[in-house]
Amino acid sequence: MKLSALLVLCLAATLAQARNDLVIGVRQPNDFLIQRELVQKDADVSALGIRTSHERTFTGNNISNITMIRALDQHDNGHGATAQIVGGGVGFKYVTIKFKSELFRGIDFVVEIYGK
Ligand SMILES: *[C@@H]1O[C@H](CO)[C@@H](O)[C@H](O)[C@H]1NC(C)=O
Ligand SMILES: *[C@@H]1O[C@H](CO)[C@@H](O)[C@H](O)[C@H]1NC(C)=O
Repeated sequence: MKLSALLVLCLAATLAQARNDLVIGVRQPNDFLIQRELVQKDADVSALGIRTSHERTFTGNNISNITMIRALDQHDNGHGATAQIVGGGVGFKYVTIKFKSELFRGIDFVVEIYGK
């Protein structure tokens, strides 16, 4: 019982350290990097309890179908924002990603879109 509680704590600590990378889809033969963007927003410290939220649509090259999307969290301190797909995605020509920061933290992601 005590041991399993300890394991859960260790696991939680490990997860808290992790980057919040979002990887959807798999590379396919002949696909290529069609778009690479930095997504950076400063922390919002104007009011108590505000998380910085930011939604962006990536249109790739408007021709290729998306095979894989990687949103790579550049914060390695465990306090990076989260990324979530809210529109389009693999098989589409566009993807809309919503980024949400922790309290008083910013957003710092590299987004890579592969397609063919
Ligand atoms: C794709 O289409 C969007 C919306 O029309 C446009 O903003 C963007 O510049 C286009 N991208 C390319 C690579 O042509
Ligand atoms: C994208 O997918 C559609 C539907 O499967 C297909 O008709 C089209 O040819 C694809 N586009 C490219 C550039 O492969």
